Amino acid sequence: MKYSKAQIRYHWISFAILVVMVLSGLAYSYDWIDTGSMGLHQVGGQIFIAILAARIVARLVRPVLADEENHSRFEALTARLVHGGLYLCMIAYVVTGYVAASGLRDPLLVAPVNQGFARSDMGELFLEAHFAIKWVLLALVTLHVAAVLKHRFWDKDSTISHMALNFRKE
Ligand code: HEM
Ligand code: HEM
Repeated sequence: MKYSKAQIRYHWISFAILVVMVLSGLAYSYDWIDTGSMGLHQVGGQIFIAILAARIVARLVRPVLADEENHSRFEALTARLVHGGLYLCMIAYVVTGYVAASGLRDPLLVAPVNQGFARSDMGELFLEAHFAIKWVLLALVTLHVAAVLKHRFWDKDSTISHMALNFRKE
């Protein structure tokens, strides 16, 4: 079963927003730019929450196991684990970020979570977790992209085309 057009669009929109989120988050934390980066991070983060929710619903409604029969059991299993890990990272990022931003009383949040909770020790822990997730995401994305490149240039199979955007009208 193939990924639907919507699922492919979600994949690349999520990718683009994640790039903006990592850059704006780091720009704020490491003072690369004076103003605007946290505002962009908060607005982008909330848009990302909506897209991620829609993406997960689309995935649950239409579970795709793209082309598993053409891959070894090891490859199919690692692909499932890495894809699952990537979804978990995205969910963990938005949950920890939202709690942290609520605790920091960010004015751009549409529905901040309970301030008492967000400012508690647990809130601090969420912030620490938010900072740590980038290393997990980096490791998983590296594996993910390495696997795609391995299929493209080593096995010379069509895995990469599963997520290819098709701009032609059908
Ligand atoms: C969508 C995925 C997200 C990614 C990839 C991401 C990434 C980052 C990164 C790289 C940093 C810099 C800190 C560091 O890791 O060294 C950061 C900081 C931060 N993020 Fe996110 N973030 C995401 C979502 C969110 C969301 C949804 C919110 C809240 C609406 C949020 C709130 C924050 C806050 C408040 C900080 C700065 C905390 C501080 O330094 O005071 N993040 N984020
Ligand atoms: C932040 C970066 C990325 C994230 C979070 C991500 C996430 C994911 C996830 C979760 C899936 C599984 C989709 C599903 O089954 O619902 C997937 C599949 C896929 N991704 Fe990514 N991806 C990223 C970057 C990339 C990049 C840069 C490429 C291209 C080099 C790529 C190519 C693919 C391909 C070809 C598939 C389909 C694999 C298959 O058919 O088994 N991804 N991605």
